[in-house]
Amino acid sequence: MKLLVTGGAGFIGSNFVRYIYRVRPQWDITVYDALTYAGNLKNIEGLDPSRVHFIQADICDENQIDKAVAECDAVIHFAAESHNDNSLHSPWPFVNTNIVGTFQILEAVRKHDKRLHHISTDEVYGDLELDDPNKFTPDSPYNPSSPYSSTKASSDMLVRAWHRSFGIRATISNCSNNYGPYQHVEKFIPRQITEILEGRRPKLYGTGENVRDWIHTEDHSSGVLVILEKGEIGDTYLIGANGEKNNKEVIELLLELMGKDKNNYDHVDDRPGHDLRYAIDASKLENELGWKPQYTNFRSGLEDTINWYKDNESWWKPQKAKTEEKYQEFGR
Ligand code: NAD
Ligand code: DAU
Repeated sequence: MKLLVTGGAGFIGSNFVRYIYRVRPQWDITVYDALTYAGNLKNIEGLDPSRVHFIQADICDENQIDKAVAECDAVIHFAAESHNDNSLHSPWPFVNTNIVGTFQILEAVRKHDKRLHHISTDEVYGDLELDDPNKFTPDSPYNPSSPYSSTKASSDMLVRAWHRSFGIRATISNCSNNYGPYQHVEKFIPRQITEILEGRRPKLYGTGENVRDWIHTEDHSSGVLVILEKGEIGDTYLIGANGEKNNKEVIELLLELMGKDKNNYDHVDDRPGHDLRYAIDASKLENELGWKPQYTNFRSGLEDTINWYKDNESWWKPQKAKTEEKYQEFGR
């Protein structure tokens, strides 16, 4: 199997590459990544170059993506602009990469008749009330709130249409909030860990009652592999690990695990249009494909993640000051 992994130098993509490298030693992996501010070659450092290759290129580049797709057996498409806050201040890169880039991949996959797995997010379904007994399912209506989630929703629609109209062999997964090593410090959990490590106070948006359904990124990787190997072509699978927590609880737990007073954080201005709650029903993936999450203890997953950031200061330090400057401009 020759896999082409777009966005394989980002957070989830690089964890997926490391996972496949470990569990499918016969497979050949090519990472295709533009190395935007979110991509980092250190994320895939130390892997045998005869098994893991790298192409620095943009998914919007028709010729480059065509050439790379022609040479693989299957594409796992992670590349995206991924941060909601950025999308509120500068939406164009989201429209370009998430919609136009996915279009270019679909055209290449169609031309060369390759298998595609498209990585998407639970945010395409909008948000839930705190007391809603229903979770998102593959049949939930699309109702995205932000420029980020609307461009991911658009990319899902393109994949569905290319499957139905042109018969491309595609599957889609919509996953909940990932945490784990190599996550950029702009995101909630690494931002707070590194704020504490730098002697500052974590920053909670609004009241902090917003709920996210946390999953360890390794469980996301195992879900994607199962879908690639056993998924029904044309189907959508939701990936989640029953990890609902509100942001206030997560900040308090981080402070406790890092030996600080659990009230030692600041409330900052809320994110405009802030989704209230996400919750995934992953029963289709569990019942039809036999997948199960392994990292079901959030507290110990978070401890491991804190330790990773403690041990890898040289990885996150270069991103940190610039990221906090950006948040100053955003006012949060
Ligand atoms: P990330 O921002 O950490 O990484 C994105 C990667 O894509 C980077 O390496 C970047 O250089 C690359 N990239 C961006 N634009 C590109 C372009 N035009 N051409 C080629 N490469 C480009 O993102 P992430 O958090 O790892 O998310 C990966 C995927 O998973 C995204 O599709 C995202 O929507 C989806 N997702 C993320 C989460 C989450 O919690 N982070 C949850 C569900 C789904
Ligand atoms: O649900 C899946 C999505 O999860 C992915 O599609 C996105 O790519 C990923 O970024 C993530 O989106 P969120 O907006 O939920 O993640 P973020 O880490 O930005 O924020 C998580 C929650 O924490 C959210 O409710 C906003 C809040 N927050 C965030 C930051 C950065 C804070 O309270 N303080 C902060 O400093």
